Amino acid sequence: MKVLLINGSPHKSGCTAYALHEAEAELNRSGIDTEFINIGTAPVRGCTACKKCVTTPGRCTYDDDIVNTIIEKSFQCDGLIVGSPVYYASANGALTAVLDRVFYAGSGFSYKPGACIVSARRAGTTAAIDQINKYFLISNMPVVASQYWPMVHGTRAEEVKQDLEGLQIVRTLARNMAWLLKCIDAGKSVGISKPEKEEKIRTNFIR
Ligand SMILES: Cc1cc2nc3c(=O)[nH]c(=O)nc-3n(C[C@H](O)[C@H](O)[C@H](O)COP(=O)(O)O)c2cc1C
Repeated sequence: MKVLLINGSPHKSGCTAYALHEAEAELNRSGIDTEFINIGTAPVRGCTACKKCVTTPGRCTYDDDIVNTIIEKSFQCDGLIVGSPVYYASANGALTAVLDRVFYAGSGFSYKPGACIVSARRAGTTAAIDQINKYFLISNMPVVASQYWPMVHGTRAEEVKQDLEGLQIVRTLARNMAWLLKCIDAGKSVGISKPEKEEKIRTNFIR
């Protein structure tokens, strides 16, 4: 079983990365494999609503950034942890652009447990958590909880290292994810598979 960890921060060794690696180490200790991706600093475009992905499910028409790589990996993993620095009380812009396109064009994360971890100097954490969890909640993904909202505080990794409560929250989150993954796997082995899907009903409020 493998969990994909996505670092939305432009900093490969910053606060978000530090917290994600804490979760990664705990997942590994719990017998879960991991893959870590940095979205990096290369330009990422936002969704242009071209809807070409409707005819090519699992592929965004714009192939010049990390989005299609993440979509491919989404089909190969069993769980997802998204990490984000808090920018103006939200997930950072590049990550939001990535997630909009990944979740619109692909369904690889469906029914797989998802969780987020955010890092802030001071505030805006719960708004950012709310934002990221909404990608999971619209994708049939069980959202993994911890003993407190999944946040760490700092402006440099060294500060996050001192956030002992934040790091414990992250380790608990990772153990909870490992537990859920093992439960899902045990369920599969006795014939409990994904729930049946009804045909989708879509009603717009303005007709
Ligand atoms: C554009 C920008 C906006 C930010 N907005 C907030 C904010 O709203 N609240 C906050 O506490 N910190 C804010 N910060 C600070 C970062 O969230 C914080 O330093 C974070 O831990 C950095 O994580 P990283 O090292 O993984 O990039 C902001 C930083 C930047 C660059």
